[in-house]
Amino acid sequence: MADMFEAPVWDERYSADGYLFGTRPAGFLTANVDRLTAGATALVVADGEGRNSVFLAERGLHVTAMDISSVGAAKARALAAERGVSVDVRVADVLDWPWEPEAYDLVVAVFIQFLRPEQRDEVFAGLRSTLRPGGRLLLHGYRPEQLAYGTGGPPFVECLYTEELLTTAFAGMEIERLASYDADIEEGTGHVGRSALIDLIAREPERDT
Ligand SMILES: C[S@@+](CC[C@H](N)C(=O)[O-])C[C@H]1O[C@@H](n2cnc3c(N)ncnc32)[C@H](O)[C@@H]1O
Repeated sequence: MADMFEAPVWDERYSADGYLFGTRPAGFLTANVDRLTAGATALVVADGEGRNSVFLAERGLHVTAMDISSVGAAKARALAAERGVSVDVRVADVLDWPWEPEAYDLVVAVFIQFLRPEQRDEVFAGLRSTLRPGGRLLLHGYRPEQLAYGTGGPPFVECLYTEELLTTAFAGMEIERLASYDADIEEGTGHVGRSALIDLIAREPERDT
């Protein structure tokens, strides 16, 4: 399972012409656009070629994006320039990311299922810690049923999400949406066809004053 975690593999995948997952954002973000407030600060984790971070910037958010692939990051910067928006794109391993405490209004994590379970625990804690009180986490990925579809995502059941896993991982947050559903998606050539998806939208509680 090691190769899917390495930057050179992603650099190679992103070196092909075009955008592997397309230039349109994940349908999860367009479906929840009412949660994207202009002027808010957002961190988009492992955003690859930038399709989700550029979409947020186009809606007036102040966006930082990160990914381990420098090739993906270069394409993300090019996409932002083409669309006339600003995104602060960083190249970094999410396992070394300096999670600034209570820094963002929004944290977006779309298809970050390259993490082994013990790494996932660490990264999920980071996603939460960097949210301001009242801030929102938007997390989207595949469920174990995706293995039968074979239309995208890692072929490792331990990397996939169930509602139980997410409820436990984000206990203490206010769950605004937790939904399992199947849909036909078309995201470049990387994610195409019937897919077993899961969405989580959760809010970090405000502090008592
Ligand atoms: C399935 S792609 C999803 C990309 C993007 N979120 C999207 O929806 O288009 C997974 C992304 O995770 C990135 N990645 C893999 N391992 C990483 C790591 N350790 N730290 C940061 N990014 C990583 C890859 O470079 C790739 O861009």
